[in-house]
Formats: sequence, C-alpha cells, structure tokens
Amino acid sequence: MNLINWNESLSVGIDKFDQEHKKLVSLINHLNLAMSQGKSKDILGGIISELIKYSQTHFKNEEDFFKEINFNESQSHINSHKAFVIKVGDFESRFKRGQIGLSVDIINFLKEWLTKHIQVEDKKYGEFAKSKNIIG
Ligand SMILES: [Fe+2]
Repeated sequence: MNLINWNESLSVGIDKFDQEHKKLVSLINHLNLAMSQGKSKDILGGIISELIKYSQTHFKNEEDFFKEINFNESQSHINSHKAFVIKVGDFESRFKRGQIGLSVDIINFLKEWLTKHIQVEDKKYGEFAKSKNIIG
C-alpha cells in the first residue's frame, strides 16, 4: 500500500509541477516500501540519494518559475527548499556512514513535509500564477 496517494488536494493547478510532485510522492512511496521489505542499506541509500537529487531538480524548476512570474513570496519559499535539502542531505550522510538508520519517523517527516509544503507553500505560487493569468 502506498504511504502517500496523490489526489486533487495536492494539485497546484500547474500540470508540470503536479507531475513533478507525483514523482516526489512516488520516490517517498518507493523508499517506504523498500524499508518495509527490509532492503539493504545500499538500496535504501540509493533511493535517498535519488530523492535528494530529484528534489533539487524540482526545486530549481520551481525557483526558475518564480523568477519568470515575479512571484512575490519567493524568498521564504526558497528558504524552505534550502532547509529541506540541508536536513535530508545531513540525514543521508549520517545514514551512509552508518551512524543512523532509516526509521518510520524519518519516512513520516518526508511525507508530512512534502504534503504540507505542497498544500501550503506551493499552492501560493499556483494561486499567484492564476491571478496573473499565467498558465503553467
Ligand atoms: Fe516548493
């Protein structure tokens, strides 16, 4: 069973970003499944790296879009992306050094962070673009 099910409540109204969010959802689901199946540290580490890498690509795409549309709340949003990358990157390095394991708490953090970020922060740029008649 999936940990997160993408549904309309997670739509930001811009197809490109909805598709990218679906990919993030699927990476977190994949990590959760691999953990529950007791996959090796190497496999889990690989999925964590992929999640970080894809998050960075996705955040950059969003941030480029903010510039394009002159989004008025971009700075706090960019800070939120940065904090996430630092936190998960720090977890990744400790995980790979064997100092910490992957836990339900960490998976739940990823789930909560992503869903809340989309529903609160990302929806703001969706609304902003809509108010300016910008179609993504
Ligand atoms: Fe975002």
